[in-house]
Amino acid sequence: MIIKTTGHLSMIKKSILIKIITLKSIILFLFAGCSNGTNETAQLACSLDDPCNIRFPHVTAPSTPKGQAAALFEELAEARFPGRVTVDVYPSSQLMTDDDSLPALFAGEIQMIAISLSKFDRMTQAFQIFDLPFLFPNIEAVERFQNSDTGQNLLGTLNDRGFQGLAFWHNGMKEFSAPIPLRVPEDANGLKFRIMESDVLEEQILNMGGSPQKMALGEVYQALQTGVIDAQENTWSNIYSAKYYEVQPYIMETNHGYIGYLVAVNPDFWQSLPEDVRTGLEEVMDEVTQWGNQRAEEINLRDRAEIVASGDSEIITFSEDELAVWQQSMRPVWEIFADGIGRENIAIAQSLN
Ligand code: LMR
Repeated sequence: MIIKTTGHLSMIKKSILIKIITLKSIILFLFAGCSNGTNETAQLACSLDDPCNIRFPHVTAPSTPKGQAAALFEELAEARFPGRVTVDVYPSSQLMTDDDSLPALFAGEIQMIAISLSKFDRMTQAFQIFDLPFLFPNIEAVERFQNSDTGQNLLGTLNDRGFQGLAFWHNGMKEFSAPIPLRVPEDANGLKFRIMESDVLEEQILNMGGSPQKMALGEVYQALQTGVIDAQENTWSNIYSAKYYEVQPYIMETNHGYIGYLVAVNPDFWQSLPEDVRTGLEEVMDEVTQWGNQRAEEINLRDRAEIVASGDSEIITFSEDELAVWQQSMRPVWEIFADGIGRENIAIAQSLN
């Protein structure tokens, strides 16, 4: 598989791309309200003379489940439409943060995103279900829920807000890392935790007695190193590729939550593609989703093994009884968000566990 990075882009080209997130795009996004915010778009050619370009920035390393799936999408889409479609994947926050990519997609400055479901918190409560601590015991349970009618309906949640969902991609289950072992939730008392932009995650940390700080992924390593934050939560593949294990002496294998992505496009852009290209790219996306979602767990286990082999971080494991204490203690967090998420959706997820 070819993993293309931005190595070939000059700094100037990059900074021009970053500047395209203009004030206009942010204003458009902020004032979109409940409209779809789509613009008048002529049918694109996607021809050899005038190829369609899909810019696809994301924030994780090329080695992660998302990094590998995005690279495969690039490879297969270009192979399917040689010269007619080009895909440029920008991994590792090289082009922009997730926060910036929402208005950029909305404004048509980029064409595809794969952002953690947690980070759509400002736009919908529907995805908060994926952040409820200890709702999903493992990736297989998440997969069953996402493939259910309820889960598939969630894919379209943001269509009328300018984000057409094409797929759910998995990363994996989250673990805590900290400067001290967290054997029970109360051990987190007083620690500052980096979290993603999510009110559920904020309540989760408050519930443990910690202090939550929302922060972009790209800032976390330095914040841990300099003591701006003490602790964080993420998947094995993110903890490994972002090297958090080098500066966090303990990793708690709680598997307390899920990180997965909504792969989305601007509906206006998508509809403007010639039909054969649009349906072809949707087929490619289905193939990539199946491939990536089957491998996500394997990638996370590979990276867990790398961390163990490094000897840098001690992994704290838990018995079922010990985990039951964590689960019980975090249950009040569900109550805060249950009505917004829809109690029936939570019940469906539980029934598929
Ligand atoms: C994070 O910010 O921790 C995650 O969204 C990173 C990811 O996997 O995209």
